[in-house]
Amino acid sequence: MKRTRASFTLLLILSVFALSCSKQSGETKNAQNPLVDTGDMKDFVDDLMGRLTLEEKIGQLTLYTADMDVTGSSVRDDYKNEITSGRVGSIFNAYTPKFTRELQDLAIHSGNKIPLIIGYDVIHGHKTIFPVSLGESCSWDMGLIEKTARISAVEATADGINWIYAPMVDVARDPRWGRVVEGAGEDAWLGAQVATARVRGIQGTSLANPDSALASVKHFAAYGAAKGGRDYNVVNMSVQELFETYLPPFKAAAEAGAATFMTSFNEINGVPSTSNKWLIEDVLRKQWKWDGFLVADYTAVAELIEHGTAIDGKDAARQAILAGTDVDMQSGLYPKYLAELVREGHVDEEVIEHSARRVLEAKYKLGLFKDPYRGVNEERAKNEIMKPEHLEHAAEVARHSIVLLKNEKATLPLRHHQTIALIGPMADNQRDQVGSWSAAGDWKKVTTLKAGLTKYISERSAPAKILYAKGANLIDDPTMREFLNRHSGNIELDAKSPERLLSEAVNTAKAADVIVLALGEAFGMSGEAASRTEIRLPANQQKLLRELAKLNKPIALVLFNGRPLVLTEESKLATSILETWYLGTEAGTAIADVLFGEHNPSGKLTMSFPYHEGQIPIYYGDKNTGRPITVHDKYASRYIDAPNTALYPFGWGLSYTKFEYSPLKLSANAMGTKDTLQASVTVTNAGDVDGTEIVQFYLRDLVGSTTRPKLMLKNFKKVYIKRGESQEVSFPITVEELKFYNEKLEYRSEAGAFRAFVGGNSRDLQSADFTLTE
Ligand code: BGC
Repeated sequence: MKRTRASFTLLLILSVFALSCSKQSGETKNAQNPLVDTGDMKDFVDDLMGRLTLEEKIGQLTLYTADMDVTGSSVRDDYKNEITSGRVGSIFNAYTPKFTRELQDLAIHSGNKIPLIIGYDVIHGHKTIFPVSLGESCSWDMGLIEKTARISAVEATADGINWIYAPMVDVARDPRWGRVVEGAGEDAWLGAQVATARVRGIQGTSLANPDSALASVKHFAAYGAAKGGRDYNVVNMSVQELFETYLPPFKAAAEAGAATFMTSFNEINGVPSTSNKWLIEDVLRKQWKWDGFLVADYTAVAELIEHGTAIDGKDAARQAILAGTDVDMQSGLYPKYLAELVREGHVDEEVIEHSARRVLEAKYKLGLFKDPYRGVNEERAKNEIMKPEHLEHAAEVARHSIVLLKNEKATLPLRHHQTIALIGPMADNQRDQVGSWSAAGDWKKVTTLKAGLTKYISERSAPAKILYAKGANLIDDPTMREFLNRHSGNIELDAKSPERLLSEAVNTAKAADVIVLALGEAFGMSGEAASRTEIRLPANQQKLLRELAKLNKPIALVLFNGRPLVLTEESKLATSILETWYLGTEAGTAIADVLFGEHNPSGKLTMSFPYHEGQIPIYYGDKNTGRPITVHDKYASRYIDAPNTALYPFGWGLSYTKFEYSPLKLSANAMGTKDTLQASVTVTNAGDVDGTEIVQFYLRDLVGSTTRPKLMLKNFKKVYIKRGESQEVSFPITVEELKFYNEKLEYRSEAGAFRAFVGGNSRDLQSADFTLTE
């Protein structure tokens, strides 16, 4: 049913009146508003579009930051006018019921009365902070990951947000790039699983639920391949590699119904993503049939000028909108130039309408026309944010994210009767545990490792004794420290001299049975604009480890960092290494449980840890080349001073128990394109404690029309096996697992020889061969 424009306007006025009556109480009496009860989004948006001026349509394509950190929670004066005159469609960096309601009030009580979308970077938790995304991906636990995203959305929406700039799904194979911390590591297939789980969690079962938010999948595309690991740098790659390695998580997110995507800052083969019509229109919209709206990353429209593909702001706006970038984040170039471009005939008004329609559809799906506040009020925020069960989940997912890299001389788990020297600048450190992009999270709420261990011991009345010494500053290097502190690092120098800190640590360690050494990167050393050439622990912390190692006591090195590190020396000096990333609000609780063996670690790396920076980019799925090291000695594709492989490869992670794998069995050694083979293995827990193993399944296409990777993860199962027991684990192989993008970019399988692999990491694998017949 199509309503007339006059009746529509009247209904809109009535609905806004009803909203203004209800807003004091925080409830909406608008549920019966006939405007939205038609249940027909197209009708509704058609009507609305018909009422908008060109400038107002462009307003829907305009997004500004609220600058909440600068303004506190009041709307900037210059924005008030923009919002009330319908020249802004969305605002980001805004939260709290009071502030977001104030913003919505401005939007719905004036101008075209269209509510705002309110966005924020809720990457790994809103107020309850979960492990950084890379760390969480090491849980390989899609249920836990989805729940993290769900809780993040519940808290964010209760605080007035309805658009979340996550998941970040950039595959990354260069740990120098600081933003590896935000993603799910180096693998396309695993990245696609994680992307799906996170989109589902953020968007919930329906966007209309007041605790669901629009996800924004970023950064489209290939941002993780920035040359040299230098942030924002160029990307040059074959289209096959783009499709095979970098796009699968985006495609999966689109299929999971992600409502919005965000462009990337980089160019791909000379074309910046924000003006890449082929990528946006041909791939994303036509091939993948995705119908959400695409937002440019922060000032990425204006950056087309710096890229050198646009002559000025007007040209940049024209290129971006014509390429299919719907919303301009923070450049202000769409509101400035699009109307002029339309009037001059350089951009069809239809293009603007398509984009505005997409934004209005998202608003409709969120239910903003029914209730612009989506039931946000102080009470809901109080009830929903940092609930005990959210904190419980934070501890649980943190336990599962921890990766035991090494464990010799029975260093871990710690025993209850031991005297433990707890040493290191990360031991009693709250600030860094929330990692980069900690949203509205309050680091002062973090349980540190020291607090976690103390709580563990007292709750169990264990006789263990903790002796604490800081041992070193986080960073002594003044240049690095000053740089990080300029960007909210909070890195303090201890009043004691470095020598004094060191000697106290050595003396403390002498009095203990075991040393728990907490070292790491300051949180600002990873994240956006935090690329490093040396991905090692700060030199003063390395010195501390060297001094303590001279005591010949067991050392459990507990690491806090946002990227894979070079740990070649540390792997020799420490008897045990626990990778804990930045685990968030409940970091200390989770690490204490793992250190004492209350939780048996099961995390597996999702990014390779190199021996040396010179090996980068390093990833398990590289290709054989014509000169593999297995065939040649000197004239091989190799380094003469380092192995080709990683120190700790993808999929690596130990347990306090030992898992043994039987030989891999295939249900047949040939399959047709309609068949399913089963690859099965028996996994036995041959150790003394119960544990969880992540059983990984890889494939290799032995002969292809183009060269294929040596290994490709295709499946996994996370299984809990009691000590002494065994479990059979099977993986189906269908033609789907065997397809790839050929030279003509067709996604097809090819008849021929394949090898299946199963194991507990990408290095130690059982294998069996089979053929695919036509
Ligand atoms: C980042 C995005 C983020 C945006 C908004 C940009 O600098 O690249 O990931 O969502 O800022 O804060």
